[in-house]
Amino acid sequence: DTVYLNGQYLPADQAKVSVFDRGFLFGDSVYEVIPFYQGIGFRLAEHLQRLEHSLRALRIEMNQDWTPILTRLVELNGGGNVSVYLQVTRGSAGKRVHVIEPDIVPTVFACCQSIRDIYQEGIDKVVGIKVIVTADLRWHRCDIKSTCLLPNILVLQQAKESGAQEAILQRDGALTEGASCNFFIVEQGVIYTPPIGTEILSGTTRALILELADQHGIPRQEAEIDYQRLIHADEVWISSSTRAIVPVLQVDDYVVGDGQKGPLWQRMFEIFTRYQHQ
Ligand code: PDD
Repeated sequence: DTVYLNGQYLPADQAKVSVFDRGFLFGDSVYEVIPFYQGIGFRLAEHLQRLEHSLRALRIEMNQDWTPILTRLVELNGGGNVSVYLQVTRGSAGKRVHVIEPDIVPTVFACCQSIRDIYQEGIDKVVGIKVIVTADLRWHRCDIKSTCLLPNILVLQQAKESGAQEAILQRDGALTEGASCNFFIVEQGVIYTPPIGTEILSGTTRALILELADQHGIPRQEAEIDYQRLIHADEVWISSSTRAIVPVLQVDDYVVGDGQKGPLWQRMFEIFTRYQHQ
């Protein structure tokens, strides 16, 4: 495996980061996960815009042309279908101090992991999942794609221990998003998803689903969704770059709809597949 670290392409076991790196010590860092299909970045511009948003929020100043860096990395890893993990930390001041010292040089790390092209594999290969609903213990800047993922990891483990594959998070009575995805419900042919704000990550897949719904005349709305609406919805979906759009067939002990992959999910998956292949 070849990884990218601070301007160099290296074998993974030769890439070294300082123990004083603020990403390691404080989680003072942000990231992106970007799918590449057949070597080409999918919604790359949107991912890079969100990265800029995260970096601005941390006041990390960078002037990088990311596209050639990432494209080269994917090439060096044999192209194909991969997700690129890109992390930017504030860097190291050579000691542990909370306050941000001036003139710290950010650490940039990127690597690839192979992913399935679920759109290529086809709709029948998609397996519906079970989710649990649990408290959203995260901070109030979930719009920043920060690597401080401890709350996300703990709820995912909780989901796993309950025989589920995801956790939908609940804050002040409203559902926000999944541990590593956004979510949607369908009620009487209308798609609903929680609105963008500081309580959720603005998902690139989420945005594309809304865009495609508009293009195809499928009614959709951004609205607060509570637990009752979730368990009584006709369909529930989750979305992320690495998992695409996945139907949720069970929420806690409740079966969603008739327990099968729903018709609107199927339609959206097909629309998405066509978009991805064009
Ligand atoms: N996670 N919400 C959270 C908390 C996420 O971590 C993610 C993605 C999303 C979906 O965003 P997008 O559609 O742009 O992938 C929503 C990535 C895949 C990860 O952490 O691996």
